[in-house]
Amino acid sequence: MDRFIFVLGSNWKLSIAELDHYLKYSSNKGKIIDYSANVAVVEFEELHQDRQYINKLMEIQFILGGCQKIARIYDFIDINTIYDAFPVQISKYQYAEKTRKKILAVIDNIIIGKKGIFPKVYESMFFAVSIYPNLYDDKYYSEILVKHLLPFLNKELMNILKQKGAIKALYYQYPEKYIKSGHLNPIFPHHVIKFELLNENRAEIIFAFTEEGLYIARTFTVDDPNFKKKIDEERPFKEFKSAISPKLALIMLNFLNLYENRDKYKILDPFVGNGTIALFGILQDFQIYGSDIDNKKVNNTLRNIHWLLELLEEEIPPFTHQRILKYDVRNISNGFNSFFFEGICTEPELGPFYTKKPYYSQVKELIDTELTPLYNEFLREAYKLLKPNSRISFISPIISTVDGNDMQVNIEKLASKNNFRIVPMMDLNRIPNKSHQKLRFRKEHVVNMIDAKKGQVVKRKLYVLEKKN
Ligand SMILES: C[S@@+](CC[C@H](N)C(=O)[O-])C[C@H]1O[C@@H](n2cnc3c(N)ncnc32)[C@H](O)[C@@H]1O
Repeated sequence: MDRFIFVLGSNWKLSIAELDHYLKYSSNKGKIIDYSANVAVVEFEELHQDRQYINKLMEIQFILGGCQKIARIYDFIDINTIYDAFPVQISKYQYAEKTRKKILAVIDNIIIGKKGIFPKVYESMFFAVSIYPNLYDDKYYSEILVKHLLPFLNKELMNILKQKGAIKALYYQYPEKYIKSGHLNPIFPHHVIKFELLNENRAEIIFAFTEEGLYIARTFTVDDPNFKKKIDEERPFKEFKSAISPKLALIMLNFLNLYENRDKYKILDPFVGNGTIALFGILQDFQIYGSDIDNKKVNNTLRNIHWLLELLEEEIPPFTHQRILKYDVRNISNGFNSFFFEGICTEPELGPFYTKKPYYSQVKELIDTELTPLYNEFLREAYKLLKPNSRISFISPIISTVDGNDMQVNIEKLASKNNFRIVPMMDLNRIPNKSHQKLRFRKEHVVNMIDAKKGQVVKRKLYVLEKKN
């Protein structure tokens, strides 16, 4: 079975949108054939036939902002078999026992072999079982999967490996308190690295549930969150309260639809601030340009870029200073040539950093007199700077008010006024149907996606626009 599990980031809808976009437009074509709130099941058109496919998966992992791990699928068990083997209430004990044996037979078949989870039997073997439920708040996960399936798999997998000849077979033990409470997170990407689970005699074995059933997979690549965290947190200048996350910066860059030969593309962030997008753009090999109305921010970004290049042990190009400039976005076309950029990726001014909900009238005034004119002029200038058919990937705020309404800039109107078309972030025809309400994509997801934590007053809405000719 040449299918792969992509473990999604915490904003799973945005992660799926990013992944689907990648599979549709990059050279590694493919499709999401099933998904849950934690994983997407991907079928590639050709990638799996490539002898170097693991290297390619590593490249994809590096590019995607919303992907924690990529695992190869070895088999699938339909959901009714699982419910029979692990029922909510055991009434037919013998039937459950019999069905469990069927599950073990499937595992026995795929655990060792040239095309198996482990290529052969080793003297000493180690594995970690990671169960990804359909939805974390599913009671079946906390009560049955964590408390019954997990111990069953640990014990039986260990036995199977020993029967097959391993002298020592150990498994990763999750802290007992999380198992007891049912609130268990599968091991994090940095643990996969720490426990060397990408080595041949060691493995993270993923058991990923969707509404359809259980996919059994082995992890091949993981995100390196420590490196991203280091860039994000240790750079000389950063404003913790307001900056976007590294993941979001990567996802935004990906919606520019420039997946190959990134070093050839010139990307602008005209509200560069302390340079989050600029830094991750550089890491992704783009030629990054930036500007900001505030001279201090321009210097901060320059310092941050120098710091990053030193960290990467790369030469500091002499022209960096000509690429990060002080400009008001409203006349930025005086600073850069027309039709110069292949993409603009930015988080514009979002208004005050509200920690408490403001009044409707306050926000209305902010939107009418400040944000709408600013976004309008930003789009007008962006049109001049971009090459034909190039894209802008940017954030616009949604502000919750005391009066109960969410307020936002009318981006659709400004886009059409300035000759941009809205690029759909989701192609609903490409995504399989789901019956659970929480798992469904809605029509508004096509136009934009939201990135926000619960209770945040100012939420970030992500839009992608394309320049009309
Ligand atoms: C939300 S912040 C961007 C934060 C950035 N993503 C970061 O990583 O730090 C918005 C930035 O827009 C700048 N700005 C506000 N009005 C501007 C204008 N008219 N032209 C250019 N920059 C402007 C501000 O100085 C601020 O640095």
